[in-house]
Amino acid sequence: KSDTSYRIDSHTVLFGVIGDPIRHSKSPVMLNRAFREAGVNGVYTAFHITPDKLGDFIAGVRAMGIRGVNVTIPHKLDVMKHLDRIDESALAIGAVNTIVNDNGVLTGFNTDGIGYVRSLKEEAEPTLDGKNIVVLGAGGAARGIVYALTNESPAAITIVNRTEQRAVELAASMRERADVRGVSTDSLQSVCVDADIIINTTSTGMFPHVEESPVEASWLRPGAVASDIIYNPMKTKFLADAERQGCRIHGGLGMFIYQGAYAFEYWTGQPAPAAAMREAVLDAFR
Ligand code: ATR
Repeated sequence: KSDTSYRIDSHTVLFGVIGDPIRHSKSPVMLNRAFREAGVNGVYTAFHITPDKLGDFIAGVRAMGIRGVNVTIPHKLDVMKHLDRIDESALAIGAVNTIVNDNGVLTGFNTDGIGYVRSLKEEAEPTLDGKNIVVLGAGGAARGIVYALTNESPAAITIVNRTEQRAVELAASMRERADVRGVSTDSLQSVCVDADIIINTTSTGMFPHVEESPVEASWLRPGAVASDIIYNPMKTKFLADAERQGCRIHGGLGMFIYQGAYAFEYWTGQPAPAAAMREAVLDAFR
């Protein structure tokens, strides 16, 4: 199986990721490993596409029949106008990170939020039913995650943000789907003490600002889940403090793995070899 799948020949199907910058991306290593593991005759590369070349790139996808594309910063919003269809959840989130090319019909999906939730359930908390969830931050990442959380059955979702207005607006746009409210960071302590799961989607604590944390660890309840979408460093100050406080911790690498796993599944219709994908990414970080 691996012999034939590893051969690049005249049947090899093309995939890739676009971004600006892009050379730091671990997606090629992760997806090529997935193809090899699953016996898919595909090749996945990184394309450095500047904003002025985005339209030409999509024309190239159509011309060459590139089967699948992942989309990262700064193209997640702008790429939408070049596609034929936008999946309902990507439309609600307002961003596309995965394109599927079905015989020339290009559909945009968003696998970031559902990837995060799958990672949370597989790695930290098998069911989110009835849970009291706090989301720190109200930016693009929070939007996808809150949307995906509303597909579960949490008791309540509270979005806490430095700029209160953004939290209130994000909550309002999701309110039909679940009990979601938005508050300012003034309420952070009172919101955290009641939380079952606290999710950091802000950049606070990301390399090189590794000494920063979005919350005071003493505000966290022992036994609660502390989750961070940052994966550089793999254990942020927030997670290290939470662990000492007796919380269960969940790092950000899984979100990256599972957003790629969903993309793989949309493109190939096969279950993603998630363990091998994680191994490939961890190897690439070493
Ligand atoms: P992303 O797409 O990664 O979510 P974003 O849309 O720029 O990025 O959102 C960044 C989020 O992190 C916002 O919620 C932002 O708070 P504001 O809306 O108040 O700007 C939050 N954030 C970034 N730096 C922060 C800091 N130093 N303290 C608190 N919140 C911060």
